Amino acid sequence: MKRKTLLSIVVLLCSTMGAMSQVINLPAPALSDTATLKYALENRHSTREYSAKKLNRQEIANILWAGWGYNRKDKRTAPSAIDRQEITLYVCTQEGVYMYDAENNRLETISNKNIMKLCGKQPFVETAAANIIYVCNKAVSVNAEMTGVCCGAISQNIALYCATKNIGNVVRASFDNDILRQQLKLSGDNVVVLTQSIGYPAK
Ligand SMILES: Cc1cc2nc3c(=O)[nH]c(=O)nc-3n(C[C@H](O)[C@H](O)[C@H](O)COP(=O)(O)O)c2cc1C
Repeated sequence: MKRKTLLSIVVLLCSTMGAMSQVINLPAPALSDTATLKYALENRHSTREYSAKKLNRQEIANILWAGWGYNRKDKRTAPSAIDRQEITLYVCTQEGVYMYDAENNRLETISNKNIMKLCGKQPFVETAAANIIYVCNKAVSVNAEMTGVCCGAISQNIALYCATKNIGNVVRASFDNDILRQQLKLSGDNVVVLTQSIGYPAK
């Protein structure tokens, strides 16, 4: 009986550590050059009704790179005050919670839990294909205002990319910081500053 209990604990520990260290390599970002900036600007809008269609890994890679990827050796697709790069993007899908490691173009698994329902206070949030969570390291940020500007730039990059692919999105300030901090396993100076739902529109 004791051996069985010990074995169960070892198996549980191994599976938990496995989930935590699991890394998902993303395909290289591949943005089509057919859509124009004019098309993107004319079609950007908020979407709050989503279809059940999922985003494939290529789309997720493209969306994250457009928002906050590296377009030069150590610089990003969006600006940050004094180049502090204080934001980290997390992605929630029905399959789990992931941290975007932009440098290595991969997702690090935070948990295999479906926390879509907890990503915001509006019911449509759990019907989106993904929710992107913007986490700021306050110890790195110049100040809250500058971080707000940075998040605005990232989220608009994503919104414009989505517009070119007829993918819906909406940036959201309505979320529970404490719940998300807990689910994302954030510590210290890391706080959630913005969220963005992404997915194919219902119509
Ligand atoms: C900082 C910020 C916070 C927002 N928060 C929410 C939100 O919590 N929920 C929501 O449904 N829309 C939210 N929005 C989206 C706005 O409601 C939307 O942009 C506005 O109604 C204009 O519509 P449009 O984006 O289609 O032009 C937010 C937008 C911004 C810029």
